[in-house]
Amino acid sequence: MSAADLAARLLDLDRAPFTLPSSRIMVFRRGEDAVSVHTSEYERSRDECRVLQSLSVHDGAGAALPITAVRVDRIEFGGGAATLTFDGAGALSLRGGAGIVAVTEAGERVEHDGSAGLRIAIGTDRSLRLSAADAHDAALAATQAAWDGWFAKLPVVRDDLQEMAAFCWWVLGANIVEIPSMPGSRAVVPSKIGYVGAWQWDAYFIARGLRHGDPVLAREQLDIVFAFPTPTGQLPDVVHEHGVLASSDDLPEGDRENLRRAGSAIADPTAPVPLTKPPLAAWAVRAVLEAEDDPQWARRVLPVVAASQEWWLRDSDLDHDGLPEYGHPYSSGLDDSPVFDGPIPTTAPDLAAYLVQQDRELADLWDRYAPEAADTEELRRRADRTAERLLRLWDPQLRRFVAWGAGEPIVSDTVVGLIPLFTGTLPEAVVSELVAAIEDPARYAAPWVIPTVALSDPDYSPTRMWRGPVWVNTTLLVAEGLERSGRAELAREIRERIAALVIHAGGPHEYFNPETGEKAPRATTAFAWSAALFIDNAVALTGR
Ligand code: GLC
Repeated sequence: MSAADLAARLLDLDRAPFTLPSSRIMVFRRGEDAVSVHTSEYERSRDECRVLQSLSVHDGAGAALPITAVRVDRIEFGGGAATLTFDGAGALSLRGGAGIVAVTEAGERVEHDGSAGLRIAIGTDRSLRLSAADAHDAALAATQAAWDGWFAKLPVVRDDLQEMAAFCWWVLGANIVEIPSMPGSRAVVPSKIGYVGAWQWDAYFIARGLRHGDPVLAREQLDIVFAFPTPTGQLPDVVHEHGVLASSDDLPEGDRENLRRAGSAIADPTAPVPLTKPPLAAWAVRAVLEAEDDPQWARRVLPVVAASQEWWLRDSDLDHDGLPEYGHPYSSGLDDSPVFDGPIPTTAPDLAAYLVQQDRELADLWDRYAPEAADTEELRRRADRTAERLLRLWDPQLRRFVAWGAGEPIVSDTVVGLIPLFTGTLPEAVVSELVAAIEDPARYAAPWVIPTVALSDPDYSPTRMWRGPVWVNTTLLVAEGLERSGRAELAREIRERIAALVIHAGGPHEYFNPETGEKAPRATTAFAWSAALFIDNAVALTGR
């Protein structure tokens, strides 16, 4: 079976829509014999972006033809009597059957002759232009060619992981959109269903998966999120079609409303708070360069990454104690983690660990690509100093790392406290305690790992976003930390388990219930970082 057909097995037109790289159009199933058509837009729900309530094909007696096959490049009705495909990124083409019926958002029912077919052009303003499908065969061929080209780059992995890898590769292609302020850009967004924009740390994880089949596209992801640093070097949280999200002043009103409803103190801050994402830029750059060396590109992006690191250490260390803080939960990537239930800003062990690692990665990268441009010995010394300060967050009584919110310890037992493993240089006694926590069925050894809050913590929930569910990224960051801390065997078990979880749950969803291994109810689907990291992990498991 071809890779495209393997991937298509999971195209249910619900969790995974029919779409095309660089297209904003998505087609979902509506019952047995009809589909609905939607656009994909920043901070707008699938329902808000519906342009056709229903589209169906009928036989001579007026009976609707059932959907009989869904492939990556076409949907077949009535055993192939009619086909729906893309005609370029901005239009669909449907031909066949006796008649075609389209019902618009306004409820208007439009009938067309099936043999002439129907071309549906959809504008970015959700406007519709309907005409005959004059070039249907060419559209079918071009759509097939586009997906064939994409699947030709699919990385080959271990047999038992290949089918899900094929679907994950589809997810990455399906989530490509153009960011209008960057004409011709190909941003792989977190999900065309609900997250349309280039989120900074999503891009880091996505690039790690893309690098195995398409290093050029992997570099493009990083170029997009590196394109708009502030004058002080801070990188924005999101680059999207209306600009960037770099400060609380840029938050969409809906987001603010949610924060207010949650009683969050940062819904209406008195002064704007910078919004960014964790400092994993150098980690991503290194991984992308490992897959395909590109010294010129490296020399171009390194100053941007270095400036963002300086921003963290200079401008986000509000109490000047050498351990920077998160000024906003969004900047941690773990939006509603119990770590942020208390006052903000928050000194968190994950942030310190990322900064240690980023200084070390930067030192290595400068040494390799532009040794004259930086004092790399000083970067390494600074990393060691931050690593020492990180140990101040170790609580010997609780025997775990704790975060601090505005001078108060936050005792919640969360995955944030495991991330210091990422530095690879924790004292052995601390590593042993963290390993014990990971292996403890009452805390982190859930049926599916690694929960984002310990099962025994009063704040644990199996379904609420960062308050318990398993996320692929944090699980793999801990696995990598274990490898760097001399615990390769446990890391490998975790890698096998997270691969099994995505397969068990039926796809790279956003986050998972640690008890059942199912998608958590509010998690989005076809989620790009879960897909990319599934592939990155599958390659790692295959290579060993
Ligand atoms: C959610 C996550 C955040 C992620 C964003 C886009 O807000 O909490 O980590 O970057 O979605 O996927």
